[in-house]
Amino acid sequence: MANARLSAIGMAIPEKIITNAFFENLIETTDEWIVSRTGIKTRYHAGPTEFTSDLCVKAVEDLVAQYPHVSLNEVDMILVATTSPDQPMPSMACRVQHRLSMSRAGALDIYAACAGFSYGVVMAKGLIAGGIHKKVLVLGAETLSKITDFTDRSSCMLFGDAAAAVLIEADETGGIGVGITGASGEGGPDLYLSGFAESIDGHPVTMNRCIVQNGRKVFKWAVNKVSEQIPILAAANGLSLDDIDWFIPHSANLRIIEAICKETGFPIEKILESIVDYGNTSSASIPIALYNGIKSGRVKRGDKIMIFGFGGGLAYAGMIFTW
Ligand code: UT7
Repeated sequence: MANARLSAIGMAIPEKIITNAFFENLIETTDEWIVSRTGIKTRYHAGPTEFTSDLCVKAVEDLVAQYPHVSLNEVDMILVATTSPDQPMPSMACRVQHRLSMSRAGALDIYAACAGFSYGVVMAKGLIAGGIHKKVLVLGAETLSKITDFTDRSSCMLFGDAAAAVLIEADETGGIGVGITGASGEGGPDLYLSGFAESIDGHPVTMNRCIVQNGRKVFKWAVNKVSEQIPILAAANGLSLDDIDWFIPHSANLRIIEAICKETGFPIEKILESIVDYGNTSSASIPIALYNGIKSGRVKRGDKIMIFGFGGGLAYAGMIFTW
């Protein structure tokens, strides 16, 4: 079985920074409420002609700029996790393949909402371990501002736009461990984006093509599910939570992260998050937290990193790897 490692990373954000003051002028809210309930101070919104595929391309270009040894011509597969594609078809992965002239790459989008990037890493590891591919590019990319209901004061201040790309490649020294995947599909009506169907399991759907969530229910599910699953993920890798140098949960809400740390005893100082500066960027939240951890020098070569994505579906996935 071929081993794999995560060998390069890049990211991209739109230019326009949105502070909490923007929402104070839009809905009945305050900076104090947003910070105390979510931790979010700023997020970025794409311009009217800027879309998820544009951020994907920029994230891959950033990866190549930072890791010049990477040759995009050698990439076998592009996996793009997104809930906010430019359009449902063609896929974002095909847009990346075309725009960056990645002649030999297969292309596939992953629809697992905020768990999408973690699912992508699990799948990339499987493709490499199975001997099917040698180099897989995994992206988490969103322009959630395009599917945000700016009249919904319980959700509109949460979401931000960003993209990140990682290269996962065959490497005998290893690095990427055993992953975990799962779903609580009964929670589908608690977090959705409408399409054709007007109900989910008999629950009527708001047909506005914007993210709708039952914040309190998803909050509780996330804290319980992540707290339950991360010791299982560690054990599957022959580790305990004490062996983990950095934990990167999906950045949905700083209070969720704090509650998970309280529940599991995991030290908050060993968390990498992206919620405070970027808001909830769904599938991009974990890789941009990793990117900034590496860039700031906090994450060092050899560190053991645990990622855990959770969100719409409801779906979750986690992985442990050595940087
Ligand atoms: O990434 C995908 C997964 N998504 C998540 O994990 C989201 C999980 N949920 C959350 O992050 C939180 O539930 C929210 C941030 C969405 C909401 O925070 P909360 O602490 O659960 O607030 P709440 O919905 O329970 O509302 C508390 C109060 C209510 O007022 P009353 O009924 O107590 O008088 C709301 O009307 O806060 C009020 N409220 C607001 N007040 C000021 C709701 N939104 C706002 C607002 N500004 N923007």
